[in-house]
Amino acid sequence: MAKSKTVFICRSCGHHAHKWVGQCPDCQEWNSHDEELAERISKPSMLVGQAPRPIKDVTVDNFQTTSTGIAELNRVLGGGFVSGSVTLVGGEPGIGKSTLLLQAVAAMSREGKTCLYVSAEESSEQVRLRADRLEAVVDNLWLVSETSLQAVLAHCDSLKPDMVVIDSIQTIHDPDLSSAPGSVGQVRHCAHRLVTEAKRRAMTTVLVGHVTKEGGLAGPRALEHVVDTVLAFEGDRHHALRLLRAVKHRFGATDELGVFEMGGQGLESVSDPSRLFLADRAKGVAGSVVVPVLDGHRPLLVEVQALVAPSTLASPRRSAQGVDNGRLSLIIAVLERRSQIGFAKTDVFTSAIGGVKVSEPAADLGMALALASSVTGHPLDSGLVACGEIGLAGELRQSAQTERRLAEAARVGFTTAVIPAGAPPTPNGIVGLRAETLSEALHLTGMIGSHSGFHAPPRPARRRGPELTGAENDVDWTVVRPLNPPRHD
Ligand code: TYD
Ligand code: MG
Repeated sequence: MAKSKTVFICRSCGHHAHKWVGQCPDCQEWNSHDEELAERISKPSMLVGQAPRPIKDVTVDNFQTTSTGIAELNRVLGGGFVSGSVTLVGGEPGIGKSTLLLQAVAAMSREGKTCLYVSAEESSEQVRLRADRLEAVVDNLWLVSETSLQAVLAHCDSLKPDMVVIDSIQTIHDPDLSSAPGSVGQVRHCAHRLVTEAKRRAMTTVLVGHVTKEGGLAGPRALEHVVDTVLAFEGDRHHALRLLRAVKHRFGATDELGVFEMGGQGLESVSDPSRLFLADRAKGVAGSVVVPVLDGHRPLLVEVQALVAPSTLASPRRSAQGVDNGRLSLIIAVLERRSQIGFAKTDVFTSAIGGVKVSEPAADLGMALALASSVTGHPLDSGLVACGEIGLAGELRQSAQTERRLAEAARVGFTTAVIPAGAPPTPNGIVGLRAETLSEALHLTGMIGSHSGFHAPPRPARRRGPELTGAENDVDWTVVRPLNPPRHD
């Protein structure tokens, strides 16, 4: 097993090379290979001593889930942790991984499971202080501050816990291994050992892993291959909202989203995120529209805001926070060319409220309406949602699962939906404003046309209206530009 030659291991993805390489052939990262001794990092076999069996003789009784006591975590895991499974929870430092797992083991201990929380980063006293805050000081929950792999396994031998949390895998090391603690070799080796032990003892194991700024698990994508489940914990540290996703799940679907709010007493499950996102919404303000987005399987109603302001810059600013920059540019171009709303001398700021990221094309129409509303100064109806993708020709295209999105809007009390002409029937309580093109949608919502006061497209008209003077609201533009049918440029 022991080989004394050295290998070069990529810090970011765990790729092995026999000689140093400048760029990783696997993940394309530059200067990421560290030299390490190849001893004892060969993969241990995970299931030893099993003979092949006919598939119908394989029983699945072992794969029972244990509720974690946290509704949103259960939702993502498909019911709870499977006994003997290994889960990797990744997230940026400070996002709340330790808090979530301490709450989970406390809830499971309350249900009579013996849980061991191995804190390799903080002292037991620090964890106890946090546990006081989280009301996680319960029977059956054991705490140890330890960084040595052998010591952790020895504690597991004596305590025989049902569940063990290793916080974090990057700070656990095997002193027998010559590479430095935290190196890819150490992290991989320790993770492999813990996976083997978890399977052997049917001990549910959770490994906490820090992610790098770029979003990759620091030390190794390779870990993702050996564990059963990879959960990503995300959120903006300036907001209380936290999102939990399964990136990989051997026991269920990966399209569930868990939503939490970080408060004074730890993380609280948010069962109705749409209401949370819309809680502070100011109604009757121009430049705001609500968009039903789908995150995985879960429909969420998110407010998208736009502010268009005169610019003094030679190349005006385009700011996209929580919305996709590329899509913003596309929508501005389509508004300029197909609906004659100009942005050449204006700064454009757009944002999705609440710390969520809206990158779906389904949010195109909402973003376009918010931009147009900010330009014209006319607020959209506060009971309105918009959902549809915008094509380069200015046409509106249907989004996937429009019914689910609109059902969520109806549930929260919205009454009108601006949707592409071919979209499925709207649910009860929602009136559909159907449009074939963006221009038509802008007319239907009053953003351009007779009542908007906005002199949008300088279209050839039989009789030209007066130039805009600022008193446009008083002008009846129907005389100048017939509203129906709207022109498709
Ligand atoms: P923590 O779980 O330590 O993050 P991680 O393990 O991912 O590094 O949580 C860190 C942040 O959470 C910290 O900045 C304080 C905040 N927090 C609260 O707001 N409320 C709480 O009840 C707790 C325990 C933490
Ligand atoms: Mg932590």
